[in-house]
Amino acid sequence: MKLPNLLEAKKRTNEKVKVKTDEYILTHELKHLGEGLFYYVKTYGCQMNEHDSENIKAILEDMGYREASSMETADLVLLNTCAIRENAHNKVFGMVGRLKHLKESNPNLTIGVCGCMAQEEHVVEEIMKKYKCVDLVFGTHNIYRLPQLLKKVLDQKGQEIEVYSMEGDVIENIPTKRDNPYKAWVNIQYGCDKFCTYCIVPYTRGKQRSREKEYILKEVKELVEQGYLEVTLLGQNVNAYGKDLYEDYTMANLLEDASKTGVKRLRFVTSHPWDFTDEMIDVIAKYDNIMPYIHLPLQSGSDRILKLMGRRYTKESYLELFHKLKDKIPNCSITTDIIVGFPGETEEDFADTIDVVNTCKYDSAYTFIFSPRIGTPAAKMKDKISLEEKEQRLYRLNELVNQYSKEANEKYLGKVVPVLVEGMSGNNKDMVMGYTDTQKLVNVKANKDTIGKIVPVKITEVRTWSLNGEIVE
Ligand code: 5AD
Ligand code: SF4
Repeated sequence: MKLPNLLEAKKRTNEKVKVKTDEYILTHELKHLGEGLFYYVKTYGCQMNEHDSENIKAILEDMGYREASSMETADLVLLNTCAIRENAHNKVFGMVGRLKHLKESNPNLTIGVCGCMAQEEHVVEEIMKKYKCVDLVFGTHNIYRLPQLLKKVLDQKGQEIEVYSMEGDVIENIPTKRDNPYKAWVNIQYGCDKFCTYCIVPYTRGKQRSREKEYILKEVKELVEQGYLEVTLLGQNVNAYGKDLYEDYTMANLLEDASKTGVKRLRFVTSHPWDFTDEMIDVIAKYDNIMPYIHLPLQSGSDRILKLMGRRYTKESYLELFHKLKDKIPNCSITTDIIVGFPGETEEDFADTIDVVNTCKYDSAYTFIFSPRIGTPAAKMKDKISLEEKEQRLYRLNELVNQYSKEANEKYLGKVVPVLVEGMSGNNKDMVMGYTDTQKLVNVKANKDTIGKIVPVKITEVRTWSLNGEIVE
């Protein structure tokens, strides 16, 4: 048993991170352990977690497991969890409760909890005390150990818990089972060292570790050869790529090299405004296959709150970057994240956030009420604002954000835009769906032969969260 420890997770050392290419090992026995068994992986949270689940699924299939169509028909259910806000946390415990009932009718069901919540000390304590139905807990740093851990679980009674608080090395030989046949995620960096005061990620994902560029570029090249049309480079703070590894190779260099692989569409998430360099902007502007779409989290428009959040930029410097991006990258769409109700946020602070939204008129924004995360500095800050007040602010903000989303979409009316068609549209059998270069969801009147292609689409109708269009022959 290895339990998470918050103090350990907070530590940062200068120790050089090693690259390991033989850490994921399957013995003959482990290769057959899952034969005849079915798994179901449920994923919460961000793209990083989505991609981790793709790794987890591939490992399980290496062991002989097959994917179940539902939890009810699975022998193994893994919850890959998110710790970012209280509601993500509550959803997971709600699901564990449901699984407990399932286990009553199927005692052979194995239940596992992994991902960011598994890295939290208090969560694991709660599972040990109150949720005996959970057989396995493992964290974000030891996914490659899943076969060995499952073997222990199947051999023994009682809970198996293995969570490392220190991140360890970069493991390069974990397989992937990609969910989407046209779009692929590629990790370029793990962890985060920014320590924004509200954020749990530096504790659940460890210190910032960039992957070596050779491995990344090899993976992108292979994806292009396999026919993938879009690659998204993934990291908590991608703009800082390479800082922990190279003297003179940055995110701008990586973007340029990845673009030269000839991939049709290249994207990246998530950017922190602080590390966004002019070189990066120039590279995005220069290469047509780097998509004109940037997610640029604002969090707050108030300098006072930004300082309390530890964001290391001001309203003014954020706006300067925003305008530079809009000026240099034609048709660039920009989206953001905003937190309302950070401890001590006054009506005046909130007005500053509204002011930035009115200036930037974002294509869309993800908005959240501040959620205290145990162990982070902001969770200890005095918070006198009532929940009602926070909800009011969120409502006002959302009204404005939606208005600008609609306005941004209206600019597309009558235009012809490239759409990567991914599949059938959810609500209409005669339509397919996909995304523009600027990451707008479009439902397209076209037949299903267009799936897996980038096609020109004329936009005929505009909604707040999506566009409708027809294919231009
Ligand atoms: N409370 C509310 N929102 C949060 N986010 C991160 N931590 C918290 C928190 N404690 C939001 C930020 C971040 C997004 C992924 O989630 O806006 O950019
Ligand atoms: Fe959630 Fe953050 Fe973990 Fe992603 S990295 S799953 S957003 S806590």
